[in-house]
Parts: sequence; C-alpha cells; structure tokens
Amino acid sequence: MSVNKTNSRAAAQQEKTFARFNLGQRWEHAVLILSTLVLLLTGLPQKYRDMSWSQDLLSTPERLDLVRQIHHIAAIILAMEALYHIGRAIYLLARRKMSAAMFPTMQDVYDAWHMLQYLLFLRKEKPAFGKYNFEQKVTYWFLFFGFALMGISGFIIWFPVQFTKFLPGGVVPASKMAHSTEAVVAAIFIVVWHLYHVHLERLNLSIFTGRLSEKEMREFHAKEYDRLTASQSSTDKKN
Ligand code: HEM
Ligand code: HEM
Repeated sequence: MSVNKTNSRAAAQQEKTFARFNLGQRWEHAVLILSTLVLLLTGLPQKYRDMSWSQDLLSTPERLDLVRQIHHIAAIILAMEALYHIGRAIYLLARRKMSAAMFPTMQDVYDAWHMLQYLLFLRKEKPAFGKYNFEQKVTYWFLFFGFALMGISGFIIWFPVQFTKFLPGGVVPASKMAHSTEAVVAAIFIVVWHLYHVHLERLNLSIFTGRLSEKEMREFHAKEYDRLTASQSSTDKKN
C-alpha cells in the first residue's frame, strides 16, 4: 500500500466526529423505514385495483387476504413504534432529560425566509442552523401528524363496527378517503422531500452511523457546532 494511501486513511480515522442519533433513535428510524415500505407495498395495490400490476398481485381472494394481513401486521408494528416514541418523549420531557431541539420556534421562520432569499440570489450566505434545521423539523412534524392521521383512520376502517358504536357512521367513508389520500401524500413527501434532503442535496448517513463529521457539523449545523465546542473548551479550561 502506498504511503499516501496510509496517510489519508490515518487522517480519516483521526477526523473528529459528533454524536447525532443514539442507537435507540437509529432503531426507531429503521422500524419506520421497514414498516412504511411494507404498508405502501401492501396498501397501494389495494388503492389502484384497476391497474394491471395490482390485478396481477391481487388476482385471487386468498392473495387479497394475505396482502391485507401483512398490512395489518405492519400497521401494528408502526403503531407500537409510535406509542413507544411518544411515551418515551413525554417521560424524558417531564423529567427534563430531553432537549426541545425538535420543537419549532420563530427562528425557523426567519431561517426559512433567509434560505428563500439565498435561493433567489438575494443573499450570499445560507443561514446557520442549530441541531435541527427548519427542513428537518418540517420532515418530523409533517410525518408525525400525517402518520397520526393514517393510524387513526386505519383503525377506524379496520374496526368500523366498534368505532361506529360511539362515532357517527359517516366517519368510516371519511376515514377511508383520508387514509387513501394521505398514503399518496406521505409517499410523495418521503421520496421528493425527505430522500432529496438526505441523499441528493448531500449524502447524509447519520441516521445509520449515528455521527456527523466535524466538516458536516460546521457546514450544516454551525450553531450547534459552536455550542458544543464552546462547552468543550470551557470544560478544558476548568480542567
Ligand atoms: C397504524 C397504521 C395503519 C392502519 C391501522 C392501517 C389500516 C388499514 C386498513 C384496515 C386498510 C383497509 C384494507 C385492509 O384491510 O388492509 C388500509 C388500507 C390502506 N392503507 Fe393502511 N393502515 C395503516 C397505515 C398505513 C400507512 C402508514 C400507509 C402508507 C404510508 C397505508 C396505506 C394504505 C393504503 C394505500 C390503503 C388502500 C386504501 C384504498 O383502498 O383506497 N396505511 N389500511
Ligand atoms: C430509504 C429511506 C430513508 C432514508 C435513506 C432516510 C434517511 C434519513 C437520514 C439520513 C436522516 C437524518 C437527517 C439528519 O441529519 O437529521 C433521517 C431523519 C429522519 N427520517 Fe428518514 N430516511 C428514510 C426513510 C424514512 C421514512 C420512511 C420515514 C418516516 C416514515 C423517515 C422519517 C425520518 C424522520 C422523522 C427523521 C428526523 C427528521 C430529520 O432529521 O430530517 N425516514 N432520515
């Protein structure tokens, strides 16, 4: 192996990295990817039943039953993940052990406006972001409320008799319409918005590796970088 190659590998190994997502958060995201993929693959053929690809898949009543059962299992996994996520967040927030970095603030509105000006060539610099930028908060809250709607409407169309004991009958067709439409909105949002931001705008693998490099922190989360390095240097001074 050449000396150059050895040096660059050693330099890469020494590059400072910053923790971004812990193991639990990475597992949660993996469950989200898998369950959403299965739900889309089993839901969309039911929605577009007159398309030839759907007719091939759902050609017999047994096949339709199987696809529905898989949809229900993935739905239970997604619902359990959502309950775990919300329960854990409430517990940690109540004990003041979780930062509120994912909650929207007025600064996000200023940052979005600043970014728009940058994209229109009216400003030279992009805004400097904290731990989560406004685009990442949009991803989180859009999917949070979108999936809450999918879950509630999904359980209503799954158990219509039980729900119409205390809700008006019209809630069932309304839920069917909401579930069916929101599925397409969610799919487009994930592919166009989320995958664009994590793969095309820049290759961001932090949800798999858990870490961001110092260069990425400086470029994409400058305020968070300053905060972390300032607290680091004040600890160093105390020692
Ligand atoms: C807790 C979550 C969910 C539950 C309880 C649920 C439940 C259901 C139920 C009961 C149906 C009717 C057909 C069947 O019995 O399989 C259905 C259809 C469907 N689901 Fe879900 N689902 C959930 C989440 C999702 C998600 C996250 C997506 C996509 C992102 C999705 C996409 C669809 C689609 C496209 C249909 C077909 C709608 C139509 O026929 O027009 N579902 N779901
Ligand atoms: C192959 C598919 C996917 C890839 C490669 C991917 C990748 C990523 C990456 C790299 C991040 C971290 C961004 C950051 O630095 O903050 C992230 C965050 C996130 N992902 Fe995904 N993701 C995928 C699918 C999904 C799906 C299906 C959902 C939800 C149903 C989802 C929900 C989220 C949420 C809520 C966040 C936190 C907000 C954010 O940081 O943008 N992801 N994803």
